[in-house]
Amino acid sequence: MTAAFHLDYDAMPGPRGLPLLGSFPALARRGPFEFFSDCFRRYGDAFRVRMGGSRELALFAHPDALQRVLQSNVDNYQKGVSYDPVRELMGNGLVTSSGSFWARQRRLTQTVFRLADIARYLPVMARCVNAMHRRWERAATPLDVREEMTRLTQHIVGLTLFGLDLSDSASESAKAVDHALVHVVSRVNQGLAPPLWLPTPGNRRYFRSLRLLDEIVYSIITRTREGQLDVGDDTPTLLRALMAAEDEDTGERMSDQQLRDETITLYIAGHETTAGLLTWALELLTRHPEVLGRVREEVSAAALDEAAPTLAQLDALPYTRMVIDETLRMRPSAWVLTRTATAEDTLRGVRVPAGAVVATGIYFAHHHPDFWDLPHEFRPERFEPAAVRARHKYAYLPFLRGPRICIGNRFALYEATLALAMTLRRFSLRRPWPVPVGIEALALMVPTQPVLIEHAPR
Ligand code: HEM
Repeated sequence: MTAAFHLDYDAMPGPRGLPLLGSFPALARRGPFEFFSDCFRRYGDAFRVRMGGSRELALFAHPDALQRVLQSNVDNYQKGVSYDPVRELMGNGLVTSSGSFWARQRRLTQTVFRLADIARYLPVMARCVNAMHRRWERAATPLDVREEMTRLTQHIVGLTLFGLDLSDSASESAKAVDHALVHVVSRVNQGLAPPLWLPTPGNRRYFRSLRLLDEIVYSIITRTREGQLDVGDDTPTLLRALMAAEDEDTGERMSDQQLRDETITLYIAGHETTAGLLTWALELLTRHPEVLGRVREEVSAAALDEAAPTLAQLDALPYTRMVIDETLRMRPSAWVLTRTATAEDTLRGVRVPAGAVVATGIYFAHHHPDFWDLPHEFRPERFEPAAVRARHKYAYLPFLRGPRICIGNRFALYEATLALAMTLRRFSLRRPWPVPVGIEALALMVPTQPVLIEHAPR
């Protein structure tokens, strides 16, 4: 049963756009981030956009609406046709699958993301941060922080989840991941994108990226199967666990295709996002010396074992963690995610028809003036425990919420806290011209230009 509504879907506010083309030209010209930010300013926390052709979406950014889509009426909101381009890249892995198949894969995968597993990964993570710091000791300054963080998070995901050192392929594969994701998202966003069978330069580059990623992923699978890992035979890795897993009903093991889909999903989801978080954290910190000073004080005084850190040692860095939370509020990697309504529903008084594409405006919920004071200011204190308890939970959802919450959220938070703490203990960091770096938000929210930071050992 649906609740009473007082606004019909067709009457939702939003840009008028052009006949047939809708808002496609404005979206293409200004980029989705600028375009949607402008809509949020003009029309508030619920608006409708025609994306070109027959495509349109209704974006909601009020926490009540997000809670209904992601939790209380979650079965009504599926990852519909707008995830089809993502499926071309990731296949039927955890991000894209649904129903009982997803639930089974999630249960299996969850077994390597327990707190006990994360505790076991911490020394490996520390080893990777130490390797990065050794490189920095010889490196010219300034550093391109995004490149460095991508290499670090790839090193970490490779060793912890797959038992392989993948840091050498980092820059090549990062470009491939970037390009493939941007291509996928432009196809999600643009009703008029050329079909994949057309040999346009963009499509050709997309297939090249896909081939490179497949090569990396199949080599991960082969090396696991042949026991050629960079960790001991008795170290559990995600892929070993997935290969050994049997279906409860049929006793079948996962096919190569399924292993490929889960591996590429975790490979992509598991490193670019955290690299973005660390890059933005350093971008924001180097613009806010008072916050940087306070983090440095906390991490310098901390009893952190840099060879074998523990969860408790990282839990004892509350301010560093607040900086990470605030970074994820201001720069959430996944800034808007879409769902398709399977049946009619009412969201904050708006009738949403069956088949409508609903966008969860994560970034906009994080900047909703009813829930955040001066939302564009960097203020880690917003994440003091009392303030967090007093706030609507769905006003903050960088990892999403509800059953489809990011499976790697604790992994990412401990990884980022450790990397930031160790880095600020060892190095002084500054930007000669600490002006804000622009935001580009196609697939993930990334800086428009390299974040260059001068570093010196302390
Ligand atoms: C700062 C870091 C991260 C952020 C901001 C982030 C954010 C997200 C978000 C928003 C989703 C929901 C996607 C959707 O519904 O389409 C998601 C899902 C997912 N993330 Fe993360 N993530 C991060 C790190 C990680 C890491 C480190 C891993 C793995 C090592 C990971 C693996 C996944 C997987 C497998 C899913 C799909 C879960 C499911 O639907 O069951 N993520 N993440």
